[in-house]
Amino acid sequence: MNEVLQNMLTRRSVRAFADTPVESEKLKTILQAATYAPSGMGKQSWQFTVVQKKEQIQKLAAVMAEALQKPEYDLYRPACMILVSGEKENGNHLADTGCAMENIMLMAHALGLGSCWVNQLKELSDVPAVRAVLDGFGVPQDHGVYAIAVLGYPAGDLPQPKPRREGVVHYA
Ligand SMILES: Cc1cc2nc3c(=O)[nH]c(=O)nc-3n(C[C@H](O)[C@H](O)[C@H](O)COP(=O)(O)O)c2cc1C
Repeated sequence: MNEVLQNMLTRRSVRAFADTPVESEKLKTILQAATYAPSGMGKQSWQFTVVQKKEQIQKLAAVMAEALQKPEYDLYRPACMILVSGEKENGNHLADTGCAMENIMLMAHALGLGSCWVNQLKELSDVPAVRAVLDGFGVPQDHGVYAIAVLGYPAGDLPQPKPRREGVVHYA
């Protein structure tokens, strides 16, 4: 089977991570994949903010937990996370983020790492306590964070994929 397709078919969202750190070379490769994603009109008006310190990750999780009123919220305690932000004024920011996220998740999988898309920051980026943490991380003021890629070595086996929906392909 084609190796790109094989990678796509075997990637799964990972929500439990080992303590093992992500090697910086692997992280660089993942970020290179992210920056080579397509973007509307080639604007690349994104930033990939990497956070590797556990206490920093949990600092963000804590303000998100407060905003969501979900005390147990912990971003799955990953080894590392990439905040994918884009210019709020760019009408393609969500599509651009999606393309970059897919590159991140597939590249991570190809390197033996697990990842998961975490969505909640999209609505919370401008909550003052959350924004203060994002400011501290260096996320530009005119950016929203449209996705977080949580990353790390999977703790345990990858789950099986859900069966694919029938009838979603239509030849006109
Ligand atoms: C736009 C989008 C938002 C998502 N948000 C979350 C999320 O906030 N938390 C989470 O655990 N998974 C999230 N996921 C992961 C999906 O739940 C997951 O991709 C889906 O259940 C299929 O499983 P798979 O990725 O293992 O194939 C998101 C995925 C996408 C594409």
